[in-house]
Amino acid sequence: MNDVNKSEFWNELYRNNAAAWDLKTPTPAFTDLLESEYFSARRTLLVVGCGYGYDAVEAAKRGFEVTALDFSETAIDFAKKLAQKENVNVNFLVEDFFNLTDEYLDAFEIVFDYVTYCAIDPGRRKDYSEKIFDVLKPNGIFAIILFPIEKRIGGPPFAVDVNEATELFSEKLELIISTDKINSIKPRKGRELLQIYRRPDGKKS
Ligand SMILES: C[S@@+](CC[C@H](N)C(=O)[O-])C[C@H]1O[C@@H](n2cnc3c(N)ncnc32)[C@H](O)[C@@H]1O
Repeated sequence: MNDVNKSEFWNELYRNNAAAWDLKTPTPAFTDLLESEYFSARRTLLVVGCGYGYDAVEAAKRGFEVTALDFSETAIDFAKKLAQKENVNVNFLVEDFFNLTDEYLDAFEIVFDYVTYCAIDPGRRKDYSEKIFDVLKPNGIFAIILFPIEKRIGGPPFAVDVNEATELFSEKLELIISTDKINSIKPRKGRELLQIYRRPDGKKS
């Protein structure tokens, strides 16, 4: 099974202890974001492709109203236990992000992505950016740590071209910050970039 569009592909990696991306702790740069001016006036947060849920649980511990989505049941089972252990409430969704229903239209003030964009089929990136826009509230922000911003063949993780990603997300969102001055873990230093986009206030077209 080698189809990144299917949850079985990811379940198998998790079951085989082959989740090489997993930090086993909240992402340090995300923890910084939780305390930042960008997040401070906003409460409802979607972690898309939440994996084992460390980031989602950390955000819930700090008072955010968190929805954590992943189509891997194996990852969500783990994340649910983590939330229970940490005694926090997280709304877990075992769903394919591309199939998320209209119930979640304009639902979130913040959407966060770490190593999910590079995990999806590159041919679906446009659909992905549109879905991100769909679930954001007006004035909501999309925070993404782009990784790996280098040339590489195959994936996942599939190579992320910063210009291409910026162009894509800027079609409907406004880029407000793009920086590599973040607390990257050592092996990812220089290979990732934080971007924050804002959904303009106006009506969706
Ligand atoms: C590389 S992992 C990153 C997990 C987590 N963000 C982390 O940093 O540990 C990518 C995650 O995205 C999930 N994923 C991939 N495509 C998805 C989709 N279409 N819908 C929902 N989840 C998806 C996978 O199941 C996997 O847990």
